[in-house]
Amino acid sequence: MEIRFRDTNAAAIKTDLLVIPVREKKLDEAAIRALDRRLKGQLGRRIEKTKFTGAEGSILLYSTAALLPAAQILLIGLGGETEIPIDSWRRIAARARKEAAAVGAAELAFFFAPGKDAEPVAAAIAEGVLLASYQFNKYRSNSKAPAVELKALTLFAPGLKPTAALRHRAERAQTIASAVFLARDLINEPPSVTTARFLGEQAERHCRGRGLSVEVWGKRKIEAMKLAGLLAVNRGSHEEPRFIAIHYKPAGKAKKKVALIGKGITFDSGGLSLKPAKSMETMKLDMAGGAAVIAAMSCLPKLGLNVEVTGYVPTTDNLPGHNAQKPGDVIRYLNGKTIEVLNTDAEGRLILADALALAARQKPDYMINLATLTGACMVALGTQVAGIFSNRQPLAEDLIRCGQEAGEKLWQLPLVKEYKEHIKSGVADMKNIGAAHGGAITAALILQEFVDNIPWAHLDIAGPSFTESDSALCPKGGTGFGVRTLLKFLSAL
Ligand code: BES
Ligand code: MN
Ligand code: ZN
Repeated sequence: MEIRFRDTNAAAIKTDLLVIPVREKKLDEAAIRALDRRLKGQLGRRIEKTKFTGAEGSILLYSTAALLPAAQILLIGLGGETEIPIDSWRRIAARARKEAAAVGAAELAFFFAPGKDAEPVAAAIAEGVLLASYQFNKYRSNSKAPAVELKALTLFAPGLKPTAALRHRAERAQTIASAVFLARDLINEPPSVTTARFLGEQAERHCRGRGLSVEVWGKRKIEAMKLAGLLAVNRGSHEEPRFIAIHYKPAGKAKKKVALIGKGITFDSGGLSLKPAKSMETMKLDMAGGAAVIAAMSCLPKLGLNVEVTGYVPTTDNLPGHNAQKPGDVIRYLNGKTIEVLNTDAEGRLILADALALAARQKPDYMINLATLTGACMVALGTQVAGIFSNRQPLAEDLIRCGQEAGEKLWQLPLVKEYKEHIKSGVADMKNIGAAHGGAITAALILQEFVDNIPWAHLDIAGPSFTESDSALCPKGGTGFGVRTLLKFLSAL
């Protein structure tokens, strides 16, 4: 999709769908009055008849009947707030994209009156339109016709200057959206396609370009590196595990060194502590953290960031094969710590422990891990909000703010020291499950044992990584949650 900027007014622009965002009860604004004059007052009458007020999310679609160069007009409500949050622009743009699909528009023009936030607003509009365009139709026969492809998005306003900064932000939006799409694709693929081997191949295929290199370790190397947690979880599987390490080194001297760690369980049956059928239905999502890391890494050369970043994705499925690990087994980790496995369904922490310990050896400035780790986090925060835990408050706050700007909600949960009591084991340093309550916290406490006090944040994305119904920015399925927050965070360093 091409993104253009034009210095023109609404009555003059030729397009399939002309989108005018309107503030609530501000329908007498000059742009709309001018349009209405050209439409011989018909738009005004229509507004009156439909009682359209511009309430947030409301729309009015109007065919211009050849009185204007634009075929249709879409008024879309911004609500009454004086400051429109960046994420509202993203959502409104996504809504416009949906309407464009419904009327078969191949081109969309969006009235864009730049204020002090011109660049972030332009970026959010572009992102909203792009993200809402995602489809995963690979496994459908022709029962569902693909939507008309959107060829161009034009942001226009009288006097609009297409500055280099605006063009740069539009380009970035395209890059970020394709990374989100990569993550969604990897999650949406059936679990027998997205195996550990496949994930390794995809990392090799997509993580290319200046300064970016990929290593994919097979079982031998994983054994040699003593990644005991990954091997233990993999024991019940027929597929070999992989450990993916992606490294980005910028051309100039990097100011900071960051490690990103993503949970890559390609299918979580629970292992011998088998899940009930219903809970297993969506368990191909369990590599969403790994997908977000691979996808974010894949666009670092294009974004040209000046940080050194290493992405780690331990990956295997979690199955109850004949050689599977058993409740009561003990894993000895490369940092010397031991975990008694009392529930094989608490497997994410087992493979993340390896990756965190390995990453910590490089002494990065920050370690950030993303994992669909606990159902408990979903119980606490629902499906739209990820939990964030951190051993450094400023890091947590930075990430929460980046998430807010990126349109991904993070809510901090506490690392309650007292609950370490709950992970005491009779035979090992700790066990892999806690008490009946606070499961998201005990999982985080276990991870913390492996970060060597390096500034670290853990994002439990079990809820928002997958949506069970179509939403404005994403159809049913993998959402690519985390990619945008990570890229925002890395860009801001
Ligand atoms: N992958 C699941 C967590 C999950 C649940 C993600 C629902 C997305 C949606 C994880 O491996 C798991 O099974 N966690 C257990 C831990 C328990 C056994 C301590 C859980 O949350 O029930
Ligand atoms: Mn599990
Ligand atoms: Zn899992």
